[in-house]
Amino acid sequence: MPPQSYNPHPKHDEESSTTNESKELRRQKQKKWALYIIAFVIFQTGIIVLFTFTVMKFRTPKFRMRPASSFDTFDVQQATPSFNLRMNAQFGVRNTNFGPFKYGNTTIHFYYKGTEVGSATVRNSKANFRSTKKVNVPVDLVMPSNLANNSDLASDISSGILPLTSQSRLNGKVEIMFIFKKKRTANMNCTMEVNISTKQLQNVKCK
Ligand SMILES: *[C@@H]1O[C@H](CO)[C@@H](O)[C@H](O)[C@H]1NC(C)=O
Ligand SMILES: *[C@@H]1O[C@H](CO)[C@@H](O)[C@H](O)[C@H]1NC(C)=O
Ligand SMILES: *[C@@H]1O[C@H](CO)[C@@H](O)[C@H](O)[C@H]1NC(C)=O
Ligand SMILES: *[C@@H]1O[C@H](CO)[C@@H](O)[C@H](O)[C@H]1NC(C)=O
Repeated sequence: MPPQSYNPHPKHDEESSTTNESKELRRQKQKKWALYIIAFVIFQTGIIVLFTFTVMKFRTPKFRMRPASSFDTFDVQQATPSFNLRMNAQFGVRNTNFGPFKYGNTTIHFYYKGTEVGSATVRNSKANFRSTKKVNVPVDLVMPSNLANNSDLASDISSGILPLTSQSRLNGKVEIMFIFKKKRTANMNCTMEVNISTKQLQNVKCK
């Protein structure tokens, strides 16, 4: 006798258990896929966020006076306080963006206690992807006649330090991946000291 005859339902039971098993298997598979998709979405979101905060972030470049400036002409008089200097000024345009910063012509103004004593012009150019563009420009710093008999100047010169400031605005565009562009303005606001005994620039500080 076949064993089935003892139990009228074994086939049916077997069948139902396999369907249950395959259903369970399918559910697990679906769960696995759902997890994969969720993980992928989280990963993708992470990548996008990371990208947005690094590569796609537009940072304002820094425009600064560099200490590596020297003097060709150095004439500072203490008896009748006056100065006449020709400085080989070095400027830096520091671009930390993931793309070039293209800027226009600009003028840098030098002041002694608020009185303009000279200016330099920087030609339009660009600072490349995450780099500092260095520009050397000669600038004449000449005492204007309205500073003659200025007591501050007399005391500064006798102390051995001529304090100066430089100011400028550099207008340009940051370009990321050739298509994303944003205007950015780099402000220069520096203070520096001309050391009269060493004929060098010292304590160059830029904001
Ligand atoms: C920038 O300056 C140069 C000469 O100094 C001049 O030829 C050029 O036209 C200027 N560019 C702009 C956009 O003014
Ligand atoms: C500076 O002082 C001298 C002498 O005291 C005077 O002759 C001269 O006119 C003054 N110059 C200016 C620009 O005030
Ligand atoms: C530069 O600094 C001076 C003094 O702190 C301030 O008055 C001026 O607004 C600053 N300029 C820029 C462009 O930041
Ligand atoms: C000028 O520079 C020399 C050499 O670095 C230094 O010893 C001196 O103190 C400086 N003078 C002033 C007034 O800071």
